[in-house]
Amino acid sequence: MDSLTSQIQPDRLPQHIAIIMDGNGRWAKSSGKNRIFGHKNGVEAVRKTTEMCAKLGIPYLTLYAFSTENWNRPSLEVRALMQLLVQAIQKETATLQKNNIRLNAIGDLNQLPSSTRKSLEKAIAETAGNTRMTLTLALSYSSRWEITEAVKSILNEYKNNPFPIDSVNDQFISQFLETASMPDPDLLIRTSGEFRISNFLLWQLAYSELYFSSKLWPEFGEEDLVEAILDYQKRERRFGKTSEQLKP
Ligand code: IPE
Ligand code: IPE
Ligand code: MG
Repeated sequence: MDSLTSQIQPDRLPQHIAIIMDGNGRWAKSSGKNRIFGHKNGVEAVRKTTEMCAKLGIPYLTLYAFSTENWNRPSLEVRALMQLLVQAIQKETATLQKNNIRLNAIGDLNQLPSSTRKSLEKAIAETAGNTRMTLTLALSYSSRWEITEAVKSILNEYKNNPFPIDSVNDQFISQFLETASMPDPDLLIRTSGEFRISNFLLWQLAYSELYFSSKLWPEFGEEDLVEAILDYQKRERRFGKTSEQLKP
């Protein structure tokens, strides 16, 4: 373990890290390559981040891989991204198995081309019994889509029964979101020096610690992840209380 990693306090690890992986296009452009070259190199950063999180003992990692809004990109880029996903999933499933990592996906998966959806579903089924870490890919995902779907599901579930208005609370709503089985992210990382949420996990990020890295996603490595976690561990999470109240 290198000296930076050894500074991590194992008893104060974030239980869920969410990442907005941004900057593939700019990274490629800076070396005169096309955007797709950037996405290809982004896959390597996904692999490194996933392995490092598993090694550190982070139970949940959620990666924003393709947003609802990303469907509006040039069709050539969208197609390349969908193909890249198939390749990456097929290539990495064995490693996920070996590392005891469960693959999961959130988003409007029906929008994905059938080849992408099939390989995703196959990998999800194959890794369903793994217990070390849950790796969730947000694909064709946006938070407003998710919340809209949740409202529709709630209305559907109670269409033949009186609606239990008094039981509606935070927990009730959370159950209807795509992330129902996961804790909220403790730490959100966004790369590429952009300071926005871009329609990602709006409900779930209510009390997450936010960390912005100026690195473009393909250049984000293990050390950058460790730095983000160390920064997180320096924060005082008050959840509305005063600092004094948190002292034992
Ligand atoms: C993130 O990189 C990957 C996806 C959104 C699919 P971008 O493709 O957004 O790269 P930039 O932001 O244009 O540099
Ligand atoms: C956010 O990145 C979505 C993903 C990382 C998948 P974008 O590059 O699409 O975000 P905006 O549009 O610049 O905010
Ligand atoms: Mg971007």
